[in-house]
Amino acid sequence: MQIATSVAALREVIRQWRQAGLSVGFVPTMGNLHAGHIKLVSTARQQADKVVVSIFVNPTQFGPNEDFASYPRTEQQDQEKLLASGADLLFLPAVTEMYPQTTQTGISVSGLSALHCGASRPGHFDGVALVVCKLLNMVQPDLLLLGEKDFQQLTLIRQMVTDLNIPVTVQGVATVREDDGLAMSSRNGYLTEQQRKQAPTLYQALCAARDEILAGHDDFPAIAERQCQNLQQAGFAVDYFSICRSKDLLPAGPSDPDLLILTAAKLGATRLIDNLYFSKT
Ligand code: PAJ
Repeated sequence: MQIATSVAALREVIRQWRQAGLSVGFVPTMGNLHAGHIKLVSTARQQADKVVVSIFVNPTQFGPNEDFASYPRTEQQDQEKLLASGADLLFLPAVTEMYPQTTQTGISVSGLSALHCGASRPGHFDGVALVVCKLLNMVQPDLLLLGEKDFQQLTLIRQMVTDLNIPVTVQGVATVREDDGLAMSSRNGYLTEQQRKQAPTLYQALCAARDEILAGHDDFPAIAERQCQNLQQAGFAVDYFSICRSKDLLPAGPSDPDLLILTAAKLGATRLIDNLYFSKT
């Protein structure tokens, strides 16, 4: 596996691949890699000749009181996992390489970025859109792999790619879970032993809401409210629990066939997110 820390070095490796007619898959990450990230890499491996992975903890997507400084940085273990997963090139830029001057250009996917996580993390999705757009311009891949774990992020990047005619195919990859259902996340490491035991309730609440809908209940606000209460009883501070249309993440009505239930809730200081999509037909 090659490692590039500068945009110039990254571009040179990819230029040679392109000259040889090879296709490129790209997996952007913030590191502290787990089996969810590695699933993206192995999916890319199956579909492209070469696989590029970036590790960059992007300051512009963290709010002033969020965990940018303490976000887990585990470079050595990450490199070992990537080597084993068959990645060809790791892009590992410093903040000064990604943002060498004050950025005056912003990207805001205005509708989507205001919903759900965007409502409680102002500016977060602008930071995500900016860094993913920059990374796409640097790597210029054929295929971009993103996890469904961050379904709103995936939907927003798809919208950006379409709006800006970025020549890349975006592919979502199903959420990888622990045996007890908890979605894998770099932030799970913040949980105490006790909180870790409570954490799977988040996925159970999503499943319970889905089961009610599939059983024919169609009072979505009441279903969401019941699950909010369940989560509160289990010790979560619920940020949102929303039953939406999977195509645009707007509130769903009883006649919508394709649904996405999204939730974000805190256990102590740790904010967890999860979602579940399904079809009523
Ligand atoms: P990060 O949280 O490191 O996630 C990198 C990618 O891994 C994202 O596409 C995310 O959806 C996916 N992922 C995380 N946990 C997953 C799981 N349990 N199963 C499947 N996929 C999972 O998301 C980001 O970084 C950043 O916002 C980024 C896109 C890199 C921009 O900075």
